[in-house]
Amino acid sequence: MKIERYERWFLIAVAVALLLAVAALLATIAGEHAAFPESSERIDPALISSTAPFDQPGVYPRDDGGYDVIMIARTWAFEPAEMELPVGATAHFRIASVDVVHGFKIPDTNANAMIIPGQVTELEVTFDEVGPHSVICHEYCGIQHHIMGGVINVVGGEG
Ligand code: CUA
Repeated sequence: MKIERYERWFLIAVAVALLLAVAALLATIAGEHAAFPESSERIDPALISSTAPFDQPGVYPRDDGGYDVIMIARTWAFEPAEMELPVGATAHFRIASVDVVHGFKIPDTNANAMIIPGQVTELEVTFDEVGPHSVICHEYCGIQHHIMGGVINVVGGEG
């Protein structure tokens, strides 16, 4: 079978583009620790506010020096909406929605997940930069979606 010269070039260009895309994906996984958020467990949205640990959302120190961050997503707020973490800390987020699908994004970090009713979303973020970090719901969740957000204040520094 004869393949036209330009067609051959085009096939090679497509193959190179595909290989570059796969390489970029692998580099992101290895270098930026990109990963699918885990659905570690299922939870009945109606029972969230009476089920530990979601009955007491907040930031809790762990034995390994990190923090457990327990959050609830609801139309149209995160609970807690504001929290504080020391710089360098690794936060282990566990988030559940009491109503509809929400998003959870912290710009300039690897945090980018969906909060799906009935599931617990777990993800880890290490905060290396001092200052306020926005938390954004980036899944359309209703008329007030655009106001749904929060802030994580990363504090501290040397010593
Ligand atoms: Cu919650 Cu958009």
